[in-house]
Amino acid sequence: MSQDRPLNHDEMLAVLDWYRAAGVDIAVGEEPVDRFAQRVPPRVTPPPVAASQGAMEPAAEMPMLGGDPSEARSLAGSARTLDELQAILGAYDGCGLKLRATQLVFADGNPEAEIMLIGEAPGAEEDRQGKPFVGKSGQLLDRMLAAIGLDRSKVYIANTVPWRPPGNRTPTPEEMALCLPFLHRQVELVAPRLVMTLGGPAMQTVFSTTAGIIKMRGKWSDVTIGNHGVAAIPTLHPAYLLRNPAAKQQAWRDMLSLKLKMVELGLG
Ligand code: URA
Repeated sequence: MSQDRPLNHDEMLAVLDWYRAAGVDIAVGEEPVDRFAQRVPPRVTPPPVAASQGAMEPAAEMPMLGGDPSEARSLAGSARTLDELQAILGAYDGCGLKLRATQLVFADGNPEAEIMLIGEAPGAEEDRQGKPFVGKSGQLLDRMLAAIGLDRSKVYIANTVPWRPPGNRTPTPEEMALCLPFLHRQVELVAPRLVMTLGGPAMQTVFSTTAGIIKMRGKWSDVTIGNHGVAAIPTLHPAYLLRNPAAKQQAWRDMLSLKLKMVELGLG
């Protein structure tokens, strides 16, 4: 295909589809910008820092990209109840994910539950309904819970980020860092006895590790989330199980391990 030929209608739709799947779903200007044609500004060596100044002090003109994690921490810390936390999060504009999401996806289930499940991020259906795990992977999660006698009246469900990332991409480390203080406060306020994380990104966030989910799944650890100490176990994400049904065997072992722990602690 010649690069100069104008695209026909079907080709234009295909390009738009491709952009949308890649998470590009907002137009920021009327004219396209050829970033490759732009000159890279020369690197400027910063002047030496005076001894009286902190070595880590940022240059005054350095632009602030995105929100400020310390503001997020102080906002989250000011919430005395889950309702307050939800309202604060609903009004919070520091995380760019909110801009393109339909609504906040705060939580589902029982805030008094002893068991908390933490997923990665809302998908399309969750974004539409404003509740976590209500799409296909949520239906599988409900079946996994039912297999060990649980349902949404006995667990509390949240995500590491409460807005849908465009195109269901993995949230960036910056987005995670801005949302983490709110998740920490949510865990502190629910104060569960047991936590199960779903999938790699949720495990890495909660267990503060870069290890892979395949290696870590099924292993209990004592973790501190915010200032709440709790026993936690990672398992595979239901969306992964839908794509890899053979892995359900491992997830089933993790669910049995959760059930056993519940019995040990007199939770069911
Ligand atoms: N996947 C997640 O990690 N969370 C949801 O809420 C839905 C799908």
